[in-house]
Amino acid sequence: MGLNDKTKRLAVIGDPIEHSLSPAMHREFIKLSGDDAEYTKIHVTNKTLADMMEKVRTQMCGINVTAPHKVAVMEYLDEISDDARLFGAVNTVVNDSGRLIGYNTDAKGFYASLLREGIDVKDKEVLFFGAGGATKSVCMYLAMKKAKSITVINRTKEKAIALGENIKSAIGYEIKTEMELPHYDVVINTTSAGMAPQLDVLPYAELDFIDENTAVVDMIYNPPETKFLKLAKEKGARTLNGLGMLICQGIFAYELFMDTKLPEGAFDAAKAVIGR
Ligand code: ATR
Repeated sequence: MGLNDKTKRLAVIGDPIEHSLSPAMHREFIKLSGDDAEYTKIHVTNKTLADMMEKVRTQMCGINVTAPHKVAVMEYLDEISDDARLFGAVNTVVNDSGRLIGYNTDAKGFYASLLREGIDVKDKEVLFFGAGGATKSVCMYLAMKKAKSITVINRTKEKAIALGENIKSAIGYEIKTEMELPHYDVVINTTSAGMAPQLDVLPYAELDFIDENTAVVDMIYNPPETKFLKLAKEKGARTLNGLGMLICQGIFAYELFMDTKLPEGAFDAAKAVIGR
Protein backbone atom coordinates (compact mmCIF):
# COMPACT_ATOMS: atom_id res chain seq x y z
CA MET A 1 0.00 0.00 0.00
CA GLY A 2 1.44 3.38 -0.93
CA LEU A 3 1.52 5.39 2.28
CA ASN A 4 2.03 9.14 2.14
CA ASP A 5 1.35 12.03 4.51
CA LYS A 6 -2.28 12.10 3.47
CA THR A 7 -2.88 8.39 4.05
CA LYS A 8 -5.16 8.06 7.07
CA ARG A 9 -3.88 5.54 9.56
CA LEU A 10 -6.44 3.38 11.31
CA ALA A 11 -6.07 0.27 13.49
CA VAL A 12 -7.73 -2.01 15.99
CA ILE A 13 -5.97 -2.40 19.34
CA GLY A 14 -6.44 -5.23 21.86
CA ASP A 15 -4.87 -8.12 23.72
CA PRO A 16 -5.11 -10.66 22.16
CA ILE A 17 -5.61 -9.19 18.68
CA GLU A 18 -4.27 -11.87 16.34
CA HIS A 19 -7.67 -13.21 15.24
CA SER A 20 -9.48 -9.88 14.88
CA LEU A 21 -11.65 -9.65 11.75
CA SER A 22 -11.67 -5.84 11.89
CA PRO A 23 -8.71 -5.30 9.50
CA ALA A 24 -10.28 -7.38 6.72
CA MET A 25 -13.63 -5.67 7.23
CA HIS A 26 -12.31 -2.11 7.34
CA ARG A 27 -10.03 -2.69 4.34
CA GLU A 28 -13.18 -3.61 2.46
CA PHE A 29 -14.76 -0.30 3.54
CA ILE A 30 -11.61 1.56 2.41
CA LYS A 31 -11.82 -0.18 -0.95
CA LEU A 32 -15.52 0.58 -1.34
CA SER A 33 -15.21 4.25 -0.44
CA GLY A 34 -11.93 4.84 -2.29
CA ASP A 35 -10.48 6.62 0.77
CA ASP A 36 -6.71 7.00 1.08
CA ALA A 37 -6.34 4.98 4.28
CA GLU A 38 -4.73 1.90 5.82
CA TYR A 39 -6.08 -0.29 8.64
CA THR A 40 -3.86 -2.57 10.72
CA LYS A 41 -4.09 -4.55 13.95
CA ILE A 42 -1.83 -3.63 16.86
CA HIS A 43 -1.16 -5.78 19.89
CA VAL A 44 -1.46 -3.44 22.86
CA THR A 45 -1.15 -4.57 26.48
CA ASN A 46 -2.18 -2.66 29.62
CA LYS A 47 1.46 -1.58 29.89
CA THR A 48 1.70 -0.17 26.36
CA LEU A 49 -1.74 1.49 26.21
CA ALA A 50 -0.50 4.95 27.26
CA ASP A 51 2.23 5.01 24.57
CA MET A 52 -0.24 3.75 22.01
CA MET A 53 -2.69 6.54 22.76
CA GLU A 54 0.07 9.13 22.35
CA LYS A 55 0.80 7.61 18.95
CA VAL A 56 -2.89 7.81 18.05
CA ARG A 57 -2.92 11.50 18.99
CA THR A 58 0.14 12.40 16.90
CA GLN A 59 0.05 9.97 13.97
CA MET A 60 -3.33 8.34 13.46
CA CYS A 61 -6.82 9.15 12.23
CA GLY A 62 -8.55 6.79 14.64
CA ILE A 63 -8.69 3.36 16.24
CA ASN A 64 -11.09 0.66 17.23
CA VAL A 65 -10.64 -0.60 20.75
CA THR A 66 -11.34 -4.14 21.86
CA ALA A 67 -10.83 -6.19 25.02
CA PRO A 68 -9.38 -5.50 27.52
CA HIS A 69 -9.08 -1.74 26.86
CA LYS A 70 -12.65 -0.48 26.30
CA VAL A 71 -12.87 1.02 29.79
CA ALA A 72 -9.18 1.89 30.43
CA VAL A 73 -8.87 3.84 27.16
CA MET A 74 -11.32 6.46 28.45
CA GLU A 75 -8.73 8.18 30.63
CA TYR A 76 -6.65 9.12 27.55
CA LEU A 77 -9.51 10.88 25.74
CA ASP A 78 -10.37 14.59 25.53
CA GLU A 79 -14.06 14.04 24.95
CA ILE A 80 -16.47 11.11 25.31
CA SER A 81 -19.83 10.89 23.55
CA ASP A 82 -22.93 10.81 25.74
CA ASP A 83 -23.78 7.19 25.05
CA ALA A 84 -20.20 5.94 25.50
CA ARG A 85 -20.14 7.74 28.84
CA LEU A 86 -23.48 6.18 29.77
CA PHE A 87 -22.31 2.68 28.80
CA GLY A 88 -18.94 3.23 30.49
CA ALA A 89 -17.04 1.85 27.49
CA VAL A 90 -15.44 3.13 24.27
CA ASN A 91 -14.87 1.01 21.15
CA THR A 92 -14.04 3.80 18.68
CA VAL A 93 -11.62 6.71 19.05
CA VAL A 94 -11.51 9.50 16.46
CA ASN A 95 -8.61 11.96 16.24
CA ASP A 96 -10.13 15.36 15.54
CA SER A 97 -7.10 17.59 14.86
CA GLY A 98 -5.24 16.27 17.91
CA ARG A 99 -8.31 15.95 20.14
CA LEU A 100 -9.22 12.34 20.89
CA ILE A 101 -12.97 11.68 20.96
CA GLY A 102 -14.41 8.39 22.22
CA TYR A 103 -17.57 6.72 20.93
CA ASN A 104 -19.35 3.43 21.43
CA THR A 105 -20.86 1.81 18.34
CA ASP A 106 -21.35 -1.68 19.85
CA ALA A 107 -24.91 -1.32 21.11
CA LYS A 108 -26.06 0.73 18.13
CA GLY A 109 -24.47 -1.90 15.87
CA PHE A 110 -26.17 -4.72 17.73
CA TYR A 111 -29.54 -2.99 17.45
CA ALA A 112 -29.01 -2.26 13.74
CA SER A 113 -28.15 -5.92 13.12
CA LEU A 114 -31.47 -6.94 14.72
CA LEU A 115 -33.42 -4.42 12.65
CA ARG A 116 -31.80 -5.72 9.47
CA GLU A 117 -33.42 -9.07 10.27
CA GLY A 118 -36.77 -7.48 11.09
CA ILE A 119 -36.33 -8.03 14.84
CA ASP A 120 -37.52 -5.05 16.92
CA VAL A 121 -37.50 -5.05 20.71
CA LYS A 122 -40.12 -2.36 21.26
CA ASP A 123 -42.81 -3.74 23.61
CA LYS A 124 -41.08 -7.15 23.59
CA GLU A 125 -40.10 -9.43 26.47
CA VAL A 126 -36.29 -9.69 26.22
CA LEU A 127 -34.09 -12.23 27.98
CA PHE A 128 -30.29 -11.94 28.28
CA PHE A 129 -27.84 -14.63 29.32
CA GLY A 130 -24.64 -13.13 30.71
CA ALA A 131 -23.71 -10.03 32.67
CA GLY A 132 -20.13 -9.42 31.45
CA GLY A 133 -18.72 -6.41 29.65
CA ALA A 134 -20.68 -7.06 26.45
CA THR A 135 -24.06 -7.03 28.16
CA LYS A 136 -24.26 -3.60 29.75
CA SER A 137 -24.30 -1.33 26.71
CA VAL A 138 -26.65 -3.54 24.71
CA CYS A 139 -28.97 -3.99 27.65
CA MET A 140 -29.18 -0.23 28.23
CA TYR A 141 -29.69 0.44 24.54
CA LEU A 142 -32.60 -2.01 24.31
CA ALA A 143 -34.10 -0.46 27.45
CA MET A 144 -33.92 2.95 25.76
CA LYS A 145 -35.55 1.42 22.66
CA LYS A 146 -38.52 0.59 24.89
CA ALA A 147 -38.29 -3.16 25.43
CA LYS A 148 -41.36 -4.14 27.50
CA SER A 149 -39.19 -6.06 29.95
CA ILE A 150 -35.56 -7.09 30.18
CA THR A 151 -34.43 -10.07 32.26
CA VAL A 152 -30.74 -10.75 32.84
CA ILE A 153 -29.72 -14.24 33.93
CA ASN A 154 -26.10 -14.88 34.82
CA ARG A 155 -24.26 -17.91 36.18
CA THR A 156 -22.98 -15.66 38.96
CA LYS A 157 -26.23 -14.02 40.00
CA GLU A 158 -24.67 -11.17 41.99
CA LYS A 159 -23.24 -9.78 38.73
CA ALA A 160 -26.73 -9.67 37.18
CA ILE A 161 -28.07 -7.88 40.26
CA ALA A 162 -25.19 -5.38 40.18
CA LEU A 163 -25.82 -4.75 36.47
CA GLY A 164 -29.52 -4.18 37.19
CA GLU A 165 -28.71 -1.65 39.92
CA ASN A 166 -26.26 0.11 37.65
CA ILE A 167 -28.84 0.43 34.85
CA LYS A 168 -31.58 1.53 37.26
CA SER A 169 -29.45 4.37 38.58
CA ALA A 170 -28.22 5.37 35.09
CA ILE A 171 -31.51 5.43 33.17
CA GLY A 172 -34.24 4.46 35.66
CA TYR A 173 -35.12 1.18 33.89
CA GLU A 174 -35.86 -1.82 36.11
CA ILE A 175 -34.08 -5.03 35.04
CA LYS A 176 -35.42 -8.38 36.27
CA THR A 177 -32.97 -11.03 37.45
CA GLU A 178 -35.41 -13.98 37.71
CA MET A 179 -37.07 -15.83 34.83
CA GLU A 180 -40.77 -15.31 35.47
CA LEU A 181 -42.34 -15.84 32.04
CA PRO A 182 -43.07 -19.07 30.12
CA HIS A 183 -42.06 -17.39 26.83
CA TYR A 184 -39.64 -14.65 25.73
CA ASP A 185 -39.81 -12.81 22.40
CA VAL A 186 -36.09 -12.06 22.05
CA VAL A 187 -33.40 -14.17 23.74
CA ILE A 188 -29.78 -13.00 23.59
CA ASN A 189 -26.64 -14.90 24.58
CA THR A 190 -23.79 -12.62 25.61
CA THR A 191 -21.84 -15.31 27.52
CA SER A 192 -18.83 -17.15 26.15
CA ALA A 193 -20.65 -20.49 26.50
CA GLY A 194 -20.65 -21.98 22.98
CA MET A 195 -17.31 -20.51 21.94
CA ALA A 196 -14.04 -22.51 22.04
CA PRO A 197 -13.06 -24.07 24.40
CA GLN A 198 -16.73 -24.21 25.54
CA LEU A 199 -18.13 -25.38 22.20
CA ASP A 200 -20.45 -27.93 23.77
CA VAL A 201 -21.72 -25.72 26.59
CA LEU A 202 -25.12 -23.99 26.69
CA PRO A 203 -25.58 -20.65 28.46
CA TYR A 204 -28.57 -22.17 30.26
CA ALA A 205 -29.53 -25.80 30.92
CA GLU A 206 -33.02 -25.94 29.40
CA LEU A 207 -34.65 -23.94 26.63
CA ASP A 208 -38.41 -24.27 27.40
CA PHE A 209 -38.98 -20.55 26.99
CA ILE A 210 -37.97 -20.69 23.29
CA ASP A 211 -40.57 -21.50 20.62
CA GLU A 212 -41.32 -20.65 16.99
CA ASN A 213 -42.25 -17.09 18.02
CA THR A 214 -38.87 -16.40 19.61
CA ALA A 215 -35.93 -14.62 17.98
CA VAL A 216 -32.71 -16.06 19.39
CA VAL A 217 -29.51 -14.07 19.03
CA ASP A 218 -26.00 -15.20 19.91
CA MET A 219 -23.27 -12.57 20.06
CA ILE A 220 -20.80 -15.32 19.17
CA TYR A 221 -19.92 -15.56 15.44
CA ASN A 222 -17.19 -18.19 15.67
CA PRO A 223 -18.51 -20.87 15.38
CA PRO A 224 -21.22 -19.40 13.10
CA GLU A 225 -23.84 -21.64 14.71
CA THR A 226 -23.36 -22.33 18.42
CA LYS A 227 -24.99 -25.30 20.09
CA PHE A 228 -27.46 -22.80 21.59
CA LEU A 229 -28.48 -21.46 18.15
CA LYS A 230 -28.71 -24.98 16.72
CA LEU A 231 -31.09 -26.16 19.46
CA ALA A 232 -33.14 -22.95 19.19
CA LYS A 233 -33.47 -23.45 15.44
CA GLU A 234 -34.66 -27.02 16.03
CA LYS A 235 -37.42 -25.56 18.22
CA GLY A 236 -38.51 -23.42 15.27
CA ALA A 237 -37.02 -20.13 16.52
CA ARG A 238 -35.55 -17.48 14.22
CA THR A 239 -31.80 -17.37 14.88
CA LEU A 240 -29.06 -14.82 14.33
CA ASN A 241 -25.35 -14.92 15.18
CA GLY A 242 -23.03 -12.05 16.12
CA LEU A 243 -21.53 -11.42 12.70
CA GLY A 244 -24.14 -8.77 11.85
CA MET A 245 -23.33 -6.90 15.06
CA LEU A 246 -19.62 -6.97 14.25
CA ILE A 247 -20.25 -5.58 10.77
CA CYS A 248 -22.77 -2.92 11.84
CA GLN A 249 -20.56 -1.59 14.66
CA GLY A 250 -17.70 -1.49 12.12
CA ILE A 251 -19.76 0.48 9.61
CA PHE A 252 -20.72 3.05 12.27
CA ALA A 253 -17.07 3.27 13.39
CA TYR A 254 -15.76 3.76 9.84
CA GLU A 255 -18.35 6.50 9.24
CA LEU A 256 -17.10 8.29 12.37
CA PHE A 257 -13.43 7.94 11.32
CA MET A 258 -14.05 9.37 7.89
CA ASP A 259 -17.02 11.62 8.65
CA THR A 260 -18.84 10.03 5.74
CA LYS A 261 -21.59 7.56 4.88
CA LEU A 262 -20.72 4.15 3.47
CA PRO A 263 -22.70 2.91 0.48
CA GLU A 264 -25.69 0.60 0.99
CA GLY A 265 -23.73 -2.46 -0.13
CA ALA A 266 -21.10 -2.14 2.63
CA PHE A 267 -22.77 -4.72 4.88
CA ASP A 268 -22.92 -7.44 2.22
CA ALA A 269 -19.42 -6.63 0.98
CA ALA A 270 -18.00 -7.01 4.49
CA LYS A 271 -20.01 -10.18 5.05
CA ALA A 272 -18.62 -11.70 1.87
CA VAL A 273 -15.08 -11.06 3.12
CA ILE A 274 -15.33 -12.03 6.80
CA GLY A 275 -18.38 -14.32 6.91
CA ARG A 276 -17.88 -18.04 6.66
P1 ATR B 1 -15.81 -11.27 30.67
O1 ATR B 1 -14.36 -10.95 30.81
O2 ATR B 1 -16.57 -10.29 29.78
O3 ATR B 1 -16.51 -11.51 31.98
P2 ATR B 1 -16.09 -14.15 30.16
O4 ATR B 1 -15.28 -14.63 31.30
O5 ATR B 1 -15.94 -14.89 28.87
O6 ATR B 1 -15.80 -12.64 29.81
O7 ATR B 1 -17.60 -14.21 30.62
C1 ATR B 1 -18.59 -13.44 30.03
C2 ATR B 1 -19.92 -13.93 30.54
O8 ATR B 1 -20.03 -15.31 30.17
C3 ATR B 1 -20.11 -13.87 32.05
O9 ATR B 1 -21.43 -13.44 32.26
C4 ATR B 1 -19.90 -15.32 32.47
O10 ATR B 1 -20.60 -15.69 33.64
P3 ATR B 1 -19.98 -15.45 35.12
O11 ATR B 1 -20.24 -14.02 35.43
O12 ATR B 1 -20.70 -16.37 36.00
O13 ATR B 1 -18.51 -15.77 35.00
C5 ATR B 1 -20.50 -16.04 31.29
N1 ATR B 1 -20.07 -17.43 31.13
C6 ATR B 1 -18.87 -17.88 30.75
N2 ATR B 1 -18.88 -19.23 30.67
C7 ATR B 1 -20.13 -19.62 31.01
C8 ATR B 1 -20.77 -20.89 31.12
N3 ATR B 1 -20.11 -22.03 30.87
N4 ATR B 1 -22.07 -20.94 31.51
C9 ATR B 1 -22.76 -19.80 31.77
N5 ATR B 1 -22.20 -18.57 31.68
C10 ATR B 1 -20.91 -18.48 31.31
